[in-house]
Amino acid sequence: MSARRPTARATASGVAAKRAVVGMDQAVQELRTLRDCLRHACTRLSAAALAYGQGTDNAWDEAVWLALWSLHLPPDRVEPFLDARLTRDERKSFFELIERRCRERVPAAYLTGEAWLRGLRFRADPRAIIPRSLIVEAMEETLDDWLAGREPDDILDLCTGGGSIAISAALRFAQARVDAVDLSEQALSLAAENLADHQVQDRVNLYHGDLFAPIGDRQYDLILCNPPYVNSASMRKLPAEFLAEPDTALAGGNDGMDLIRRILADAPKALRDGGFLLLEIGHEAPFFEAAFDSLEFAYLPVAAGEDQLVLVSREQLRAAGYGATLGKPRRRR
Ligand SMILES: C[S@@+](CC[C@H](N)C(=O)[O-])C[C@H]1O[C@@H](n2cnc3c(N)ncnc32)[C@H](O)[C@@H]1O
Repeated sequence: MSARRPTARATASGVAAKRAVVGMDQAVQELRTLRDCLRHACTRLSAAALAYGQGTDNAWDEAVWLALWSLHLPPDRVEPFLDARLTRDERKSFFELIERRCRERVPAAYLTGEAWLRGLRFRADPRAIIPRSLIVEAMEETLDDWLAGREPDDILDLCTGGGSIAISAALRFAQARVDAVDLSEQALSLAAENLADHQVQDRVNLYHGDLFAPIGDRQYDLILCNPPYVNSASMRKLPAEFLAEPDTALAGGNDGMDLIRRILADAPKALRDGGFLLLEIGHEAPFFEAAFDSLEFAYLPVAAGEDQLVLVSREQLRAAGYGATLGKPRRRR
């Protein structure tokens, strides 16, 4: 007779104990204050092991965002309300949102229909990726050092999605004229709504098409671009929340650089002398450096990291051999 296999009971000492999460009905019934409800929401969100990174990066901030939205409260002020009691219906509405976030893994921005970026509200829905580009932070914090007092007159937002970068640029540089291009008509329809909300439709022009194709011979002082740059291996591991966003907004090919190669090749033609391309590359710096090893450029640091934004001038691109009229990029020997 073979040895008996250890039973679950026999091995229980080596297995983490289960932790129950109180159900929604009991939470609606028994909890009272916003603080109570936020604590329960955090428990529920944490137990569901969700993915963050589409507006918040932790369960507390996510719960606060959903609570303030569902209660019609200002998005940036939770403290004054923490000890306020919620009515039964308010608790129910909030916990229903939390349940949808956990069960369906819908990003909070798509649940609420809005996203906030550096204090600006943008409409958000599955027509476009949720606004979170690091370019907006750099535009406010560090880009000035490079512009050396020269405000850009003409700006291009390449791959504009829902228009958050184009709108932020139009508001940041009040004299500038902004063009914004995207291949997705759906994304552009959302961008048009956002332009109207921010009343910048007379200074931001939307173009439908492939990268630089719709702008013809126009030239810019500044090109801002948050392209699809996620490499294939990372795409295969994307959590459900990110799969809710358009695939064409994220996938950048095998090394994430498919579109970026084309952007660097054509950017010199679309830039004026002294102009800059500010390009988001996320966590793909190793792939970027491997793909463009002859290029001199600077990383613009932001809170999220030192090497997620690339700033490169027209002159640096040309020196490395990039430019439509110059043929293939020159490689370092
Ligand atoms: C990462 S999203 C950025 C959206 C927006 N700029 C933002 O930061 O929220 C990339 C965008 O590039 C667009 N896109 C993909 N391929 C493109 C192409 N060949 N030409 C123009 N836009 C493209 C997608 O439709 C998507 O809206």
